[in-house]
Amino acid sequence: MAPKVPPPLFAWLILPICLLIFLYSTLLPIYAPSSNPPPSNPLIPFSPPCNLFKGHWIMDPTREPMYDETCPFHRNAWNCLRSKRENMGRINSWRWVPDKCELPRVDPVGFMGLMRDTRIGFVGDSLNENFLVSLLCILRVADVGAKKWKRKGAWRGAYFPAYNVTVGYHRAVLLAKYEWQPKQSTLSQQDGLKGIHRVDVDVPAIDWTDINNFYDVLVFNTGHWWGYDKFPKETPLVFYKAGQPILPQLGMLDGYRAVLENMVAYIQREFPRKSLKFWRLQSPRHFYGGDWNQNGSCLFNEPLVELQHWLNAGEITNALSRCSVAPSVKMSILISRQLDLWFDPRNNGVNKEARQFNHLIKEVLQGTDIRLLDLTHLSEFRADAHPAIWLGKKDAVAVWGQDCMHWCLPGLPDTWVDIFTQLIKYSMET
Ligand SMILES: *[C@@H]1O[C@H](CO)[C@@H](O)[C@H](O)[C@H]1NC(C)=O
Ligand SMILES: *[C@@H]1O[C@H](CO)[C@@H](O)[C@H](O)[C@H]1NC(C)=O
Repeated sequence: MAPKVPPPLFAWLILPICLLIFLYSTLLPIYAPSSNPPPSNPLIPFSPPCNLFKGHWIMDPTREPMYDETCPFHRNAWNCLRSKRENMGRINSWRWVPDKCELPRVDPVGFMGLMRDTRIGFVGDSLNENFLVSLLCILRVADVGAKKWKRKGAWRGAYFPAYNVTVGYHRAVLLAKYEWQPKQSTLSQQDGLKGIHRVDVDVPAIDWTDINNFYDVLVFNTGHWWGYDKFPKETPLVFYKAGQPILPQLGMLDGYRAVLENMVAYIQREFPRKSLKFWRLQSPRHFYGGDWNQNGSCLFNEPLVELQHWLNAGEITNALSRCSVAPSVKMSILISRQLDLWFDPRNNGVNKEARQFNHLIKEVLQGTDIRLLDLTHLSEFRADAHPAIWLGKKDAVAVWGQDCMHWCLPGLPDTWVDIFTQLIKYSMET
């Protein structure tokens, strides 16, 4: 898409690239490799401290999805097989390979055996629902008698009778309670203000106040609604605490932090220690050339790879052969740089918010018993795996733009499920 750099300029780039690599290799000794070439994945089974969230994608043509378009838990907009999205075979052939150990695929029967008589709950926005649908369709492989389930304030879910396992999703896009309050004509004459969305930072949304002792495993998230596109200045979020407006008024990010702090405190106070709690970090968006409402697009056939937009593979190899650093250091840098161009807040791109929010979430979760489910980095590569223009509905693209935020199913969230189930399995067996 971006123009290729002409050869003379390219020559000038080698020095900076080498310099950059040198700096990274000195500053980040953690990347410093043993003399081996890039992770030739050792078949070491997963156990902490192996970090499943760091690694790379490889093409594995033998990899097949575990379910198809007939899974009864699909949501139309993400059912990419049914909407005949191009490239689904390739999207589902990429395999995530952690740096230090193996990530096995979920074994639905084994996992359900382990989870017998338990309940798993998701609380958050549609990206958690996207995750839930993948999990439901995969678990259904072990129990085709799975039935739709919707209780305890859940938006949707499933019950698996063969194992007495319940999986529910509670839709609470901001986690905190919020409500629309139209402007009273006599009040504020602020320009264009139509009303406010009052957010009570210390009050959880009603959808998940009844589940404290219900789930054995919980996955929380919030973040994808925290933007000025959802809440523009004519209908802004206004934050309240203990029933009173917080003054001076908080901006979006400060409000986000206040909600996180209060919701995390609520979870720590009200949910039993023995329940296994995860916080799912942000799912990155991949709008290219503009935001969702500015014709932003994600028609990519491959995951992101560093530098592919301005150097071809031969040129990269050539440049690297002139730097005297070990190959795996080079790979880490090459890969992290293209992702940085897209996602580093300092580059001010349209997809920068995921890392910003993650930063806050990590701060607020410190010292709690809530574990990070850091699916951000591995997902950042997958610009190729969104529904894009295949939304299963005529005119949807004209009205809503492309969907470069949610994920096709089957697709990337199936890898989230592989990781999630490994982490649960590990903590239940030890
Ligand atoms: C099913 O599991 C729940 C806990 O998730 C338990 O309370 C209930 O007794 C179980 N039902 C049966 C029939 O074993
Ligand atoms: C998006 O594309 C349409 C059709 O090509 C065009 O009419 C419209 O002006 C574009 N909108 C933006 C914000 O670029």
